Amino acid sequence: MKALVTGGAGFIGSNVAKLLLENGHEVVVLDNLSTGYRENLEALQQAAFVEGDIRDGELVAKLMQRVEVVFHLAASVGNRRSIDNPILDSQINVIGTLHVLEGARHAGIRKVVYSSSAGIFGELKHLPIAEDHPTEPDTPYGVSKLSAEKLCLVYAQLYPLEAICLRYFNVYGVNQRYDAYGNVMPIFARWLLNGEPLLIYDDGEQTRDFVNVRDVARANLLAAHAEGLSGAFNIASGEAITINHLAELMRGMVDEDVGVEYQPPRKGDVRDSLADISLANKELGYSPSVDIENGLKEYIAWAAKEMI
Ligand SMILES: NC(=O)c1ccc[n+]([C@@H]2O[C@H](COP(=O)([O-])OP(=O)(O)OC[C@H]3O[C@@H](n4cnc5c(N)ncnc54)[C@H](O)[C@@H]3O)[C@@H](O)[C@H]2O)c1
Repeated sequence: MKALVTGGAGFIGSNVAKLLLENGHEVVVLDNLSTGYRENLEALQQAAFVEGDIRDGELVAKLMQRVEVVFHLAASVGNRRSIDNPILDSQINVIGTLHVLEGARHAGIRKVVYSSSAGIFGELKHLPIAEDHPTEPDTPYGVSKLSAEKLCLVYAQLYPLEAICLRYFNVYGVNQRYDAYGNVMPIFARWLLNGEPLLIYDDGEQTRDFVNVRDVARANLLAAHAEGLSGAFNIASGEAITINHLAELMRGMVDEDVGVEYQPPRKGDVRDSLADISLANKELGYSPSVDIENGLKEYIAWAAKEMI
């Protein structure tokens, strides 16, 4: 297939583009490098790279002429970033997605695979979280990701294109670089590799469902191949671990002498998270294949080499 990967210089997008190339597909990457990295493009030599913005409707429409499937990952990512800059968040995540959808329908694209987020659920009512869990996002990011998801599904009803929204939980793995707004894994990796103590908010007994980026990339390809299917699916590991356990595993792999310090809970952090992934299993044939210990070993080896 010929594919456009928006956000292909980013953490997850570069892994999706790499898997597409490994499977013999043609890839065009569109990225404005706002949070993406040229280093992530080095393994994507066979892809065409276009430095540009998804808010540029003309450019997006032009690139759509060359492809059959769009993997739409470009976004302003994260709750705290969206609280700091809610207007930019919606301009990229909502209006940018509309440019992608408009381009897709005019070009007769077969399928849009949209990267959604568990952030759309907001405060959790019960666990595990299935697709029909209430969606009451509590940050501008959660709202913009939910709006974009709804727009994808509306376009699949209005026009002859299919749309699959993949709701990722906590994704980790190779190409995930340290970012002040970022996820816990690269932050812990950087502190550990620098010999600095790990700061844990709350008592560390809060849980998260971490999914390796290689499984997320596979889920994107499965979604592209699922003919005649539109809808929203959870993509996670289906297993929860505590932050204390994560810290223990990572300390064991890097440096057990590095200490752990506890801080008061942060406002807005959910206490527990665990996905029900049975729908993605049934409809897409998705099941996670990378366990947390092997995934962490691979990630830490990469982080040490890249000095993230
Ligand atoms: N990392 C996670 O745990 C996680 C969880 C849930 C959902 N997601 C979703 O997955 C997708 C990828 O996230 P990521 O973690 O790889 O983040 P990332 O920041 O590494 O990737 C986003 C990419 O989009 C690019 N981009 C941003 N604005 C753009 C614009 N206006 N035009 C063109 N390119 C633009 C950035 O330069 C970057 O390369 C996002 O849609 C995000 O909402 C990520």
